[in-house]
Amino acid sequence: MQPRELGSIPPYRPRLGLDVSDRLRLGSNENPLGPSPKAIEAVRADATRMHRYPARPHAELDAALADRWEVETEQIWLGAGAVSVIDTLTRAMVDPGEAILRPDPGFSYFGRSNLSHYGVERTYPMSKSRSFTLDSQAILDVYAGEPLVYINTPHNPTGALASRAAVTEVVEGTDPSTLVVVDEAYEPFSTEPSMASLVNETDRVAIIRTFSKTYGLAGARIGYGIIPPSIASAYERVSTPFGVSRLACVAGLAALDDEAYLERSIAVARRGRTYLDTEIKATTWPSEANFVLVEVGDAATVTELLKQNGLEVKDCTNFGLDSCIRITVGTSEQNRLAAEIINQVVS
Ligand SMILES: Cc1ncc(COP(=O)(O)O)c(C=O)c1O
Repeated sequence: MQPRELGSIPPYRPRLGLDVSDRLRLGSNENPLGPSPKAIEAVRADATRMHRYPARPHAELDAALADRWEVETEQIWLGAGAVSVIDTLTRAMVDPGEAILRPDPGFSYFGRSNLSHYGVERTYPMSKSRSFTLDSQAILDVYAGEPLVYINTPHNPTGALASRAAVTEVVEGTDPSTLVVVDEAYEPFSTEPSMASLVNETDRVAIIRTFSKTYGLAGARIGYGIIPPSIASAYERVSTPFGVSRLACVAGLAALDDEAYLERSIAVARRGRTYLDTEIKATTWPSEANFVLVEVGDAATVTELLKQNGLEVKDCTNFGLDSCIRITVGTSEQNRLAAEIINQVVS
């Protein structure tokens, strides 16, 4: 037996990390502080209820998020990470054979999700000469009626911001049948506010957010979409039944309440990215996220050399940036060591 023809879908192979000590594991934009302590406590307390399906914790997290973003609970689409929300959107919005439009360079799962749902991907350029800031005209120049247009701010892997004005121009320049999806996985680290209010203002924008980065819950797998009223009810038809684990819901709910952790997490990212930007003796781009893009020459070779020196970073060749690596902000000590190793290897 064979799976269907999957050749056009690039495989995703998770890295296992350098070693169990995680000393300088700075390749996946994980939070260096560990999980929110309130989330740990809540998961411990709920562990004895793992035999129960997650209907109630799911509803409680929906309600808390709806309250926070001033939308109806139906407009919150929970998923096992932001990637799962992307899949749910694909199932809800895209017919087989249709394309989605995503940034290049950019987070590849926007396209991979559609490829695995019998669709295709098209891209719009994020140009180095504009420091990777969003150019609405570059999107509208290639737009051909795609049902989903993805924007990511702060942008992975560059840390650049999209302006609210640029997003609005994209909404206004595309068909009423197109949903503009703004992925804000890294937004809390940035100095700009969320664009979530556009969801109800326009009925054409969806927002994607995650607990993986700012709340340190990447391993719990919990993210969500804030979805316009007109399509919100599709979730009940296309989502996986009980697709978000009970412990993930419980962790997310507790983390939302952990203001102290959130503040620390944001401060560490902001301080650290400034440090890396200043200390690394190579071209870097100003970042509004918890990572910094660094121009190193031959990214694949440098990534390997850094690995031999105990430092794990992201080789951006797969993003189409074969001269760049992306380094996640760590603790002060990790940042100091990482900058030292990068400077040695690059020189
Ligand atoms: C832009 C962007 N969106 C979504 C995700 C996935 O987040 P999650 O861990 O919630 O699936 C990532 C993860 O790196 C990302 O960079």
